[in-house]
Amino acid sequence: MNYNFAAMKPTLLLALLLSFVALPLLAQSHWYDHAVIYEIYPRSFQDTNGDGIGDLNGVTEHLDYLKDLGVDAIWLSPFFPSPNADFGYDVADYVNVAPEYGTLADWDKLVKAADQRGIRILVDFVVNHTSDQHPWFLESRSSRTNPKRDWYIWKDGGGPDKPPTHWESGFGGYTWTWDDKTRQWYYHFFLPQQPDLNWRNPDVKKAMYDVARFWLKRGASGFRLDATPYLFEDPKFPEDPNPPAAHSRDRFLRPYNAGLPEVHDALRGLRKTLDDTRPESVLLAESLTPNIQELAKLYGPNHDEVQLPMNFLFGDIKTLDAREFKKQIDDAETKLNGGTPVFLLSNHDRARIWDVFGDGKHNQQISKLIAALILTPPGTAQMYYGDELAMKTVSKPELADFGITPKRPHPDGRDGGRTPMQWDSSKNAGFTTDTPWLPIAKDFATVNVAKESHDPNSMYAWYSSLIHLRKENVAMRDGIYVALESGNPHVVAFACQQKLGETALIVLNMSGAEQKLEISGFASWPKFSRVLLSSPSAPTPHSGSLNIAPYGVMIAATD
Ligand code: GLC
Ligand code: CA
Repeated sequence: MNYNFAAMKPTLLLALLLSFVALPLLAQSHWYDHAVIYEIYPRSFQDTNGDGIGDLNGVTEHLDYLKDLGVDAIWLSPFFPSPNADFGYDVADYVNVAPEYGTLADWDKLVKAADQRGIRILVDFVVNHTSDQHPWFLESRSSRTNPKRDWYIWKDGGGPDKPPTHWESGFGGYTWTWDDKTRQWYYHFFLPQQPDLNWRNPDVKKAMYDVARFWLKRGASGFRLDATPYLFEDPKFPEDPNPPAAHSRDRFLRPYNAGLPEVHDALRGLRKTLDDTRPESVLLAESLTPNIQELAKLYGPNHDEVQLPMNFLFGDIKTLDAREFKKQIDDAETKLNGGTPVFLLSNHDRARIWDVFGDGKHNQQISKLIAALILTPPGTAQMYYGDELAMKTVSKPELADFGITPKRPHPDGRDGGRTPMQWDSSKNAGFTTDTPWLPIAKDFATVNVAKESHDPNSMYAWYSSLIHLRKENVAMRDGIYVALESGNPHVVAFACQQKLGETALIVLNMSGAEQKLEISGFASWPKFSRVLLSSPSAPTPHSGSLNIAPYGVMIAATD
């Protein structure tokens, strides 16, 4: 095509120029750039066959609920056959559904019903390790010469009493287990029942990419990748001169077994599999990194790696420290080379938000503040089932009283944050007609979907409003991040500004006292015309000098 620029009217020229500049920009936006991803722990969401264990049909049953809430994608925690040493994170068959969760036909039904509602499903892909009961490992441990021997990591060490290294495992103890039959040690970053796959073996890589293809072809819109930092170990297996203290965060970021450069190649290969098999499918990775530069690298030099590496620099903050949150939001919005930030503070490995951040007195208000913190900055927000109800962590004594049953073969330190979803005030909170696998939190008669969805002051109403605002308000939806200074160490303030100037201002008070602010960072104060949402109610800010209530949230907009 030839253009005669000289003969064109200026407006036409402008339109043409815009189409060159703007269209490619538009073309680069994806559904996952501003999504709400909702994690479901299938064992605890809804039981439909009366065995006290949630199942895939239970997820299908509640898709309308999720759609009303405004969820774009569900991350389903593992539902594959598993001996449950780590409740599904020890996979014995990557391409099937465990009988307690249903069948592949139930999966197909779920995907179809979700698709009809515009909800995508991300499968939890446990890439680092399998179960010790996976046929691959059974073969591998059967003899030193088995063709699958090299699918896992086997070493001599110094015999049965001397492991090859004294590396600390993520779950405590050494990363090695002695196998008496073949008289070698095998490597596991997590439990002994979770042997690490050897990603240096091309057959392993291929087998895992095949697993990805299986789920993509069967309707998955991508994967939540489990424990990606640990795919490779330093082949020299050096000793640790300065071993991390047991239970310290340091053991997750050692130079010899976390975040090795080879991880990037493996992830780029996986991404290519996604791009080739199902365009617009996405990787959401559990990617712990020591700093923002390493996090930025995970997006890939050409945005060809992970689209959504979870930001644990933000996600691991455990106190209401406004300065730290502001720093991490600023970094996530400005130092990821245009990659989409992923904000999270909750998942199946943690105590509930209510208990992590609550001060015992203002927990409801603080939980609202946390919701706003996750759902307002530009980027993708990740939440965990029950966050929207303000579900609580069930206490250790209650869990101990509940006891061990065939459905709950052993206790897990994380059980308190994995109790059944609270649907209504009926027996077992509407989760099951049988005895549930974990106890139902005591507050279920008031903290439940049926009650809260009719109460305009509930946590549910707050989440629902926030999620709908982030989709409907132009500045919150399409705006870019504007870093602001609140003039107060207890308050986070920032704005989302859309190209045409529409602006949303977000102010979050992380202290239990009213705070005075002097907001700076706008070239001139935008004409805010209304408060879109606040808790408690707050006046429209007509200048940068304003007050904000204890643990208050205020979102104002110009449109
Ligand atoms: C991830 C999961 C966690 C699991 C571990 C081992 O951290 O979130 O639940 O125990 O990996 O698979
Ligand atoms: Ca069931």
